[in-house]
Amino acid sequence: MSPVSGAGPVAVLVGPMGSGKSTVGALLATSYGVRARDTDTDVEALEGRSISDIFVESGEEHFRALERSAVATALAEHDGVLSLGGGAVLDAATRDLLVGHRVVFLSVGLSEAVKRVGLGAGRPLLFGNMRAQVKKLLDERAPIYASVATVTVDTDETAPEDVAVRVRAALEAVDE
Ligand code: S3P
Repeated sequence: MSPVSGAGPVAVLVGPMGSGKSTVGALLATSYGVRARDTDTDVEALEGRSISDIFVESGEEHFRALERSAVATALAEHDGVLSLGGGAVLDAATRDLLVGHRVVFLSVGLSEAVKRVGLGAGRPLLFGNMRAQVKKLLDERAPIYASVATVTVDTDETAPEDVAVRVRAALEAVDE
């Protein structure tokens, strides 16, 4: 396990779209007094275009390669809270890199995920039948998130502020 400061992020948040990784990540970072970072934002900044544009113009495979490299860079240089894009853990090399980090799986049920992603704007994987797509992604990926997680925190019917408190408590329990 990485120490709280010095080597790697204080916490790495994984979970599906709509699990609240970015919102909870920002709150958790404030609580720890560290910076929040998000690999989706890193990819967009490096490419100078949105994730939707990258998917449409260059394809998902290209996005996944950019994401793999963004995650590796952030894991190596960020010592705050790091949120990964929902599909980042599909990559085996990324899963290997996560070993030894404090990985938090923010889980979310189908109804709540659908509510939170709204119309899915800006999320290319949700184009088409949104509810069916979210269900498919949740079903396929839940075991993968669980496999890389140090702790799992359920986010259903819980305000992001309370999720952040629970994440911190869960991580502190692991460190005891
Ligand atoms: C994706 C999740 C998105 C983004 C991209 C693909 C996925 O990130 O990386 O649209 O495969 O689940 P968020 O989980 O932050 O929405």
